[in-house]
Amino acid sequence: MDKIVINGAKPLNGTVEISGAKNAALPILMGTILTADNCVIENVPEILDVDLTLEILEKMGAKVRRDHTTVEIDTSDILPCRSPYELVSRMRGSTYLIGAELGRFKKAKVGMTGGCNFGIRPIDQHVKGFKALGAEVATLGGFVEAKAERLVGTEVYFDIVSVGATVNVILASVFAEGTTVLENVAREPHIVDLANFLNACGANIIGAGTDTIKIKGVEKLHGCTYAIIPDMIEAGTFMFAAAAAGGEVKINNVIPKHLDSISAKLSEMGVYVEELDDAIIVKREGDMKSINVKTRPYPGFPTDMQPQMTALLCFAKGDSKVTEAVWENRFRYVEELRKTGANIDIAGDTAIIHGGTELVGAPMRSVDLRAGAAMVIMGLAANGRTEIVDIHTIERGYDNIVKKFRSLGADIRKVSF
Ligand code: EPU
Repeated sequence: MDKIVINGAKPLNGTVEISGAKNAALPILMGTILTADNCVIENVPEILDVDLTLEILEKMGAKVRRDHTTVEIDTSDILPCRSPYELVSRMRGSTYLIGAELGRFKKAKVGMTGGCNFGIRPIDQHVKGFKALGAEVATLGGFVEAKAERLVGTEVYFDIVSVGATVNVILASVFAEGTTVLENVAREPHIVDLANFLNACGANIIGAGTDTIKIKGVEKLHGCTYAIIPDMIEAGTFMFAAAAAGGEVKINNVIPKHLDSISAKLSEMGVYVEELDDAIIVKREGDMKSINVKTRPYPGFPTDMQPQMTALLCFAKGDSKVTEAVWENRFRYVEELRKTGANIDIAGDTAIIHGGTELVGAPMRSVDLRAGAAMVIMGLAANGRTEIVDIHTIERGYDNIVKKFRSLGADIRKVSF
């Protein structure tokens, strides 16, 4: 097993390259199923969730060739209902197999999926969309099964804004007869990226990035070459780490617009943020101010930056509030952060951070992906030694995180034990 060991309280300086977005890569790689052809996907992050996705697709019959961040994938021989339960159950993103298999084969059978544990993770909105298109859907013996004689375009109004339901119903409706109109959809950049990829393969999807998406059914898709957008959450994590530890970091290969809510909060805290065309500079020298934050679907402040924000605010003077409005239970990491002396109270959906006290590195267990990122930020900025275990949770979504922080001058390493 591996752990991350950090000797903290050293400023970060230099330049870091951001990888492709995990939450765009997963739906796009699953979306290649619809093409029944050869696709070349570039800027794919080298993370465990991508390894798992490619393994699942190979087990279903895809031919995969991977050269670092470029993945060539031929899905012509894929068969439906063949994804191994023990693999799909490890990752939430495998839910997208339901939409992709249903779209291409009019039938799907996929094991109930895992992923980070933030309380109940229902798929009622996915099911609502599949049923509206004409599918029968059942959940039996740990599997979701869906089948349809025909998929017919329709209107779907989602009761809540869901990234997963938006992705899944787009995938299922690419070949549906007529026009499908999806309302109250997620507007995340990864939704736009999926639609751009599918359109590059011959789909007819408009409106991605707004709250209404229209899909005109097409008969067939073809392969294409497509580059995934940069990961806004990885970028945000480096921005917060630079603010917490101090120093000056240039974060390359980003789309600054995607980072607006994150940059705005840093500026409010008194951290210097400069936007360039495809880079962001974060510089922190003096004290940081306390602030209040509430998570929201895009373009609001992302829930996937919430744990990192709590860690950062431990270093800002005064009381801050972080309210979680997307997930029911995403504060499990707080108990771990408290080991450093962090003074954080939880009141319902809100963490109250009494910041600016002296914090000392501590042993911590990464309870999920972004929780682990918060612990890395804490370790980089707190005095003394931090050791983080269960780091596979971090490596699910961060590409070479240790190497990237080392290149910024951090005293951080991965140690086997
Ligand atoms: N929800 C329902 N019914 C549904 C679907 C969702 O009630 O049918 C609820 C959820 O319980 C939650 C809210 O809607 O309270 C939002 O869930 P959403 O469906 O948007 O989340 P997801 O698709 O399961 C993706 C990301 C998460 C990220 C969320 C929110 C992937 C693979 N995962 O999850 O990313 O937190 O959107 O932005 O894209 C991460 O990267 O660390 C991560 C957890």
